Amino acid sequence: MNSSPDPQLPIDVAVDETHTFLGEVLPPPPARVIEVGGGRGEVAERLLGDGYALKLIDPSPTSVAAARRRGIDCVEQSWIDYGATEFGRTEFGASEHYDAALFVRSFHHITPVSEAAGIAAKCLVPGGCIVIEDFAFQTAEPALIEWCATTAERLRETGEFAPEAGTLLDHLLNDSRGPAEAWQHWGDDVHGIHSEDEMLTALQQHFTMDLRRSVPYAYRYFLTGLPNDASGVATARELLDAERRAIADGAFAAIGRRWVGSARITR
Ligand SMILES: C[S@@+](CC[C@H](N)C(=O)[O-])C[C@H]1O[C@@H](n2cnc3c(N)ncnc32)[C@H](O)[C@@H]1O
Repeated sequence: MNSSPDPQLPIDVAVDETHTFLGEVLPPPPARVIEVGGGRGEVAERLLGDGYALKLIDPSPTSVAAARRRGIDCVEQSWIDYGATEFGRTEFGASEHYDAALFVRSFHHITPVSEAAGIAAKCLVPGGCIVIEDFAFQTAEPALIEWCATTAERLRETGEFAPEAGTLLDHLLNDSRGPAEAWQHWGDDVHGIHSEDEMLTALQQHFTMDLRRSVPYAYRYFLTGLPNDASGVATARELLDAERRAIADGAFAAIGRRWVGSARITR
């Protein structure tokens, strides 16, 4: 299992949680990992610290600049464009191959999703794996939406919680249609993100899925609204525990997804 430094910021609680999962499923260091849509590099920094040979691909200039400041080898490009030049669209002919392709909350953004999965399969060595952490917003039950709304209201009353503009929580709390209706329109109106079915269909064209797990996810929406100090870290931990307990008690189904697949590559 990976070891992580003590969390300093609320977001670190979520990064730790992801890092622990990756410690279970990634091939051991110094395996070569390509992290697609790695953003500002919080997860990549942990993997670099573990001794992985890591490359991060992301089209966002500001995120890539932040990731580079963490010492991460980055390419500022969309996965589809990168795959077209590096791995070819039809032939398995990559100049560089990886032991694992990692997508942390990025797979739902990448279009066309079947091409995203196909490029991932082509970039891997035989026996390589795809590792995905994502979410299935369509499976959010009314009880989960209610949990988010009441948790946000409770935290807002402390005066220490400010949901970041443009986030799902902001949308849920401020949409005149109310939280349940607002959630249903989150994917369509705001992001145009892929559903769980679309993602799994694309993956199964290229991968044999070895692991499918449902995990807490909603607590992550609160983290950027919490104070960046020890009290924010404590609240982040409480929220993760509360969501875990609610799922274990059957109050609502988990919307987080973790998937691992082995590439079906024919050379
Ligand atoms: C929700 S953020 C997740 C960032 C990071 N993995 C994390 O967990 O904090 C989604 C990321 O996917 C990236 N992304 C969006 N479209 C992409 C594409 N076509 N190719 C690669 N990355 C993409 C975005 O720039 C963004 O950094």
